[in-house]
Amino acid sequence: MVFQPQLKILIGRDEIAKAVDRLASEIKRDYQGKQPLLIGVLKGSFVFMADLIRQLDLPLELDFVRLSSYGATRENSGRVRVVQGVKTPIKGRDVLVIEDIVDTGITTSFLLDYLRKRKPASLKLCALTDKPSRRRVPVSIDYLGLSLPNKFVVGYGLDFDQRFRNLPDIYALED
Ligand code: IMP
Repeated sequence: MVFQPQLKILIGRDEIAKAVDRLASEIKRDYQGKQPLLIGVLKGSFVFMADLIRQLDLPLELDFVRLSSYGATRENSGRVRVVQGVKTPIKGRDVLVIEDIVDTGITTSFLLDYLRKRKPASLKLCALTDKPSRRRVPVSIDYLGLSLPNKFVVGYGLDFDQRFRNLPDIYALED
C-alpha cells in the first residue's frame, strides 16, 4: 500500500512567487556588472532555481551539485557526501549557491567549505526557506526567501522520500 501522509498547506504559490521576486531583485542589484555562477543543490532546488533565474537579467552561468540526502528519513545523518561535484571551474568566479532549505545547516556548511577550498572570488548563499530553530551548525544566509516553523515541509521541489516535489505550494507533513 502507498503511504499517504497528511499534508497541510503552509505557504501558497502567491507567497512563494513574492519571495522569489524579492530575492531576484536583491540578487540583480548586487550582481550588476558581474557574471555570477549559480550552483544549485540537487534535487530540491531545481523548481526554485528555474523560477529565480528567469527573473535574473544577468549574464549568469549555472551548475549543479548533488549531495547525499536524507533518504526515507526526516533527520540529517550528520554525514554529507558529494554525489556529483561541480563541473565548472570556480576559481575566481562569483559563486552564488542556491538552496531549497537550510535545516540543521550541516549540508550547507559542508558545501560552502567544499566550494571555498576551490577559491571563488566571492561565495554567497541564497536559500528559499530556512528553519532557524533546527540549526546545529551556524550558516549565514545572504538572500533568504521564507522563514519556516519547525515542521517537515514538501512541495515546490522539496520531497519526502522522493515524493511531492511537483506540488506547486509548500505543505507541512503532519504525523
Ligand atoms: P540540513 O543539512 O539539515 O540543513 O538539510 C539540508 C537538506 O535536507 C535540504 O537541502 C533538504 O534536501 C533536506 N531537508 C531538510 N529539511 C527538509 C524539509 O523540511 N523538507 C524536505 N527536505 C528537507
